[in-house]
Amino acid sequence: MPEFILEADTVEFSYPDGTRALQGVFMRIPRGAKVAVLGSNGAGKTTLFLHFNGILRPAGGRVRFDGREVRYDHRSLMQLRKNVGIVFQDPDSQLFSASVFQEISFGPLNLGLPREEVRRRVEEAMQATEITGLKDKPTHLLSYGQKKRVSIADILAMEPAVIICDEPTAWLDPKHAEQVMELFKRINNGGTTVILSTHDVDMAYSWADYIFIMMHGTVIGEGTPEEVFQDGELLFRADLARPRLVETWAQLRNKGLLPADLPLPRSWTELFELVPTRRAPGTGGPAPVYVLDREGTPACAACSARRR
Ligand SMILES: Nc1ncnc2c1ncn2[C@@H]1O[C@H](COP(=O)(O)OP(=O)(O)OP(=O)(O)O)[C@@H](O)[C@H]1O
Ligand SMILES: [Mg+2]
Repeated sequence: MPEFILEADTVEFSYPDGTRALQGVFMRIPRGAKVAVLGSNGAGKTTLFLHFNGILRPAGGRVRFDGREVRYDHRSLMQLRKNVGIVFQDPDSQLFSASVFQEISFGPLNLGLPREEVRRRVEEAMQATEITGLKDKPTHLLSYGQKKRVSIADILAMEPAVIICDEPTAWLDPKHAEQVMELFKRINNGGTTVILSTHDVDMAYSWADYIFIMMHGTVIGEGTPEEVFQDGELLFRADLARPRLVETWAQLRNKGLLPADLPLPRSWTELFELVPTRRAPGTGGPAPVYVLDREGTPACAACSARRR
């Protein structure tokens, strides 16, 4: 089995108006990984994703799935799309059916699956995305966040080997954004490779196994979250901020509150476990340790730990 499930090998692509959206993209997606693609608006993330399931065809270079070069005849594309499902950035360009249930069942029905199997998949996908209560509602009457969850359920019900999700948490409220990311973690635990694009560096840092950074139609950096987010020059070039957790860790280290040789924590809980407890002068209790909160202002670490 090839180590990389999807590969873009020096992919070039221009839109009909002449925009050179991809300029020699080289990206190899490790099988079974949780991959985040970061990059500012217009970097080429969506254009690349559309190449991964054959909606767009490279003008130069090639795309490989499971080690084999993608072919563009009808049969090969159908096969590819069964294996690589995309949740579009804009749910309105994905949803079309009358009701939520019909919408989600459309894909599995067209795979020729038995009705019982279709029903099982649709029910499971609706439960996973918490939209069971909306099953009879016409999709065009849903809120944007609800549509986004239906479009994720759409792809879940296809049970592909790779799920690509273009900005999964955009427009979701914090609770549903967290739920969706947990859902992608669970799906990934079941063996599915998950690729997503995002502008949320905090989420990418805590969720992904591997990160690619795109800019002007190329990949300008890649690595584990720890590698990528400690590369100040790369972040500067890509116009990306450091995740709050990494920033807080760096500040605590610089102030001598953490030993310099400790590894970078991946969660707030891990960070707080690293912070030594000290007595506040005159109180007998532990001294408050201040960290940067969501707005970048110092807040009590213990209180933030309880909040999260
Ligand atoms: N249909 C189109 N016709 C012409 N140019 C396009 C089209 N779609 C995208 N582009 C251009 O291609 C480039 C890459 O766009 P793309 O949508 O892939 O970026 P992105 O990284 O997904 O950005 P965002 O973070 O805003 O979603 C941009 O310069 C964009 O203006
Ligand atoms: Mg995009």
